Formats: sequence, C-alpha cells, structure tokens
Amino acid sequence: MTEQVVAHLSDIHFGVRCDLQQLADLERFIPTLSPRAIVVSGDIAQRARHGEFQAALRFLDGLARTAPVHLVPGNHDVQWWRSILGVLGQRVKYGKWRRYFGEDLTPVLELDDLVVAGMLSAHGFAWGSLTPNPNDTTVKGYLPAAEVARVRERFARTDPRKTRIAVLHHNVLPGVISNRWGLARPRAAQAALLTLDADLVLCGHDHTEGSGQLDGRLVVSTAGTHSVRTRGGRPSAFNLLRITADQIQVEHFIYARDARTFRPGDRSAYARYRRAAGAVQR
Ligand SMILES: [Fe+2]
Ligand SMILES: [Fe+2]
Repeated sequence: MTEQVVAHLSDIHFGVRCDLQQLADLERFIPTLSPRAIVVSGDIAQRARHGEFQAALRFLDGLARTAPVHLVPGNHDVQWWRSILGVLGQRVKYGKWRRYFGEDLTPVLELDDLVVAGMLSAHGFAWGSLTPNPNDTTVKGYLPAAEVARVRERFARTDPRKTRIAVLHHNVLPGVISNRWGLARPRAAQAALLTLDADLVLCGHDHTEGSGQLDGRLVVSTAGTHSVRTRGGRPSAFNLLRITADQIQVEHFIYARDARTFRPGDRSAYARYRRAAGAVQR
C-alpha cells in the first residue's frame, strides 16, 4: 500500500474572526503536501451568513484544485435560531448551508483507496445537545444513533482494503488546553464511534490541535482553527495524516505568521489496528 496523505483542516470561520492572510498562505501551502483528499470538519462560517458561506465556497473551490474536498457543518454553520428545540423541524436550520454546499449534509467521498464519511453532530438548540451548563446550549453537539448506524453500514459495504475515515465537527477527545468535550454524553459517543470499524475519526471545534486513540485502536485527529480565535495565544495549526499499511501518523503543521508559511510541529504515530485484525489485506 502506498502512503495516503490527507489534509485535515477545521474551524476556518469566515466572518468577523477570519484570518485572511493566513488563509491565503494556507491556500498556497496545501498543494505543496500533495494530499489525496482535503477534509474540513466544520465551522466554515461564524454566523451562518450568506457572505460567509460565499467566501467559504470560493476558498474551498481553490482547495479543490489540489484534491477533492470533504466538508461537514459545525455549530456555527447552523441557523439554530430558526427552529429552537426542533419546533419548526430540522430542515429549516440547514437551508442556507444546503444552498451553498449541497443537499447532503453528510457527504461520502469515496476514492479508489479510501472512503471519507460525514456524520452530523451540529444540531443547534436541540434536546440531545443540552447539558446542565446553559452556556453549552448552542455550542455542544450530539451524535445520534442513526448517524452512527448509517456510517457503519456505509463502511460495511465498502471494500475492506480502503481506509475508512469518519468525520464530525465536535471533538470526541477533551481539548488539551480547554479540557472540554465537544459532545453531550461524550462517553456514549466514543463507544458508538468504536462500533464503526473505522480507521480514523476526524473532528475539530475545540480550536486546538490534538490526536489520540479511542480504546487503543481508533485514531482520532482533532484539527485546530485558522481563525484568529486560537486558545492560549498559540499559533494556528492543521493536521496532516499519513496512512500506510502499518500505521497512521498525525502531524501538526503550525502557522509561522512572519514567514507566511506552515512548519511541521509535533507528530504522533499509531499502529494500524484494522490491519492487525486482518481486515486490510494488501
Ligand atoms: Fe469553531
Ligand atoms: Fe464548533
């Protein structure tokens, strides 16, 4: 198996906290990595405004000249105020998103050697996302059982030799600085993700880069943000995934503002569990 390189970006946040200089540098830098695919795990906008989505569309079109782009919505991309607690249904919250990014909120990108499947965790002001903390009301997400079942079934009917990547917006590991979970009922969500038989889960939302494993077998990549709203004054970062038959590597690329480029930072390597279990036979 040749190495698969996937760029994982998140939380670009077109709008008031957008970092246009950095995005120009990112657009120039990504092609130098020759990724097989580019995954953007939500919060492309700040307030789900037309202008933000239009700017995002132009930016993503630029990235798509390098590799296919996969995108899911984040909590900032949902017009949650249009259907509080779902009283006016679910569709109305995603109308503007669909106008720009297509009908399917959770697209599947299938290439000849990998499959990327989106999962919806951004439901706005919804029963499933509520926690005892009122500040979480429109910020946290939840992972419905139907989302997990759909992606599990999609992976099950995909050639087992293909790398399986599931994408959702909310972080499934606590942030390394914030110590916050992205999802309500996070332990149940972790257990559900383990049933996917995936190689990797990609998420964002915490605005801090990180990586880890669930149950010592499912690799998690948490991408940072390219907005000005980083945690602890740290520079922005995105993740580069390098996937081989034996291992999955998550490398953080850190923004060097003065040099107007990105530089390799910490890198973590994880054993490839599915291969060890005999599922990947190349
Ligand atoms: Fe965000
Ligand atoms: Fe978010």
